[in-house]
Amino acid sequence: MHNTKQITQDLHWIGANDRRLSLFEGVYDVPLGVSYNSYILLDDKTVLLDTVDKAVAHQFFENIEHVLNGRKLDYLIINHMEPDHCAEIENIVKKYQDIKIVCNTKTQTMLGQFFDFEIAEDKFIIVKDGDTLETGKHKLSFYMAPMVHWPEVMVTYDSTNKVLFSADAFGSFGAIDGNIFADEVDFDHRYMDEARRYYTNIVGKYGQQVQMLLKKLQEIDIEMICPLHGYAWRKDLNIFIDKYQKWSTYEPEIKSVLIPYTSVYGNTQNAAEILAGELAKLGVKDIKMYDASVVHPSYIVSDAFKYSHIVFATTTYNMGIFVNMEILLNDLTAHNLQNRKIAIIENGSWAITAGNQITEIVSKWKNTEIIGNKVTLKSSAKQTQREELEALAKEIVKTL
Ligand code: FEO
Repeated sequence: MHNTKQITQDLHWIGANDRRLSLFEGVYDVPLGVSYNSYILLDDKTVLLDTVDKAVAHQFFENIEHVLNGRKLDYLIINHMEPDHCAEIENIVKKYQDIKIVCNTKTQTMLGQFFDFEIAEDKFIIVKDGDTLETGKHKLSFYMAPMVHWPEVMVTYDSTNKVLFSADAFGSFGAIDGNIFADEVDFDHRYMDEARRYYTNIVGKYGQQVQMLLKKLQEIDIEMICPLHGYAWRKDLNIFIDKYQKWSTYEPEIKSVLIPYTSVYGNTQNAAEILAGELAKLGVKDIKMYDASVVHPSYIVSDAFKYSHIVFATTTYNMGIFVNMEILLNDLTAHNLQNRKIAIIENGSWAITAGNQITEIVSKWKNTEIIGNKVTLKSSAKQTQREELEALAKEIVKTL
């Protein structure tokens, strides 16, 4: 049965939620589920903006039929060719045979990569940055947004309703629970962490490209943002735009200390806990610790974008960095984390190498500084190491 949401008089959400997906993109758990958003604009012409993941195709087609109410579909705008949004293009094109596909040349190439069916050349309306399409009352403009989050991505701006269809940008993990607008839910409390985890892990590497998009968007008057995942925004847009500004420039949101650790027998954890306790005694608030062997790296990557200081505490393992810490460090490198203050605690019972290897990795991060003396445990902390941890806490606090 159809389940659509009216956004404006002539704009409808026709997406669907997946609450059983075990791993989004085969990597990220989504405990709150995920929504695949698709929109229909009912003007003189009818316009479908993106499709959905194949997992929710049945609901999607019921929704389209309901909103079209017997009308034909004139345009499909493809803002993003990733299969969580493009999976139903073939079925749309086959079902609505008069449809024109509005996309850019990169998207056209990717259509040939993902699908194996013929689309006649005259079905395409190929657009470039700044091109427009009039559909009756509405005038749509297209802005290329390469690498936010794939090279073919563009966003669509409806200057009549002042609505931005932002593709993956301004999206979030988390299903849409009935309401459609972010101002109808306690977004900050319930979803902001998932929005950060979504941004940092999916788009985090491409801060420069996000900055380019944000600059383009400054030129237009946006009253509403309709992303491809999560709630639509119509109030306090600056809250979310400000987060994007920080995340895409790798500016920490808070001055505090994140401590990801791994610990084979609890001794490295003990050192991390002592440091956290000393920081707390010195007045540091909202310190956050993660056992990187227990928590998926996507959560730690997300908080690494939030916190100004990170202390890595880990064991030497196979003459290298303990496996789950190494995965985390590689993930942070891959996501282009920069502009952070770092401290290191290492452990090992012989041939301790982890600390130097972490130093080597983080020294390649831009504008990143190692602070304090590395604390080295030989198997477990003794009074000397406790004093070193107390000294490290003082050094960290000096830079907060
Ligand atoms: Fe939600 Fe890049 O796809």
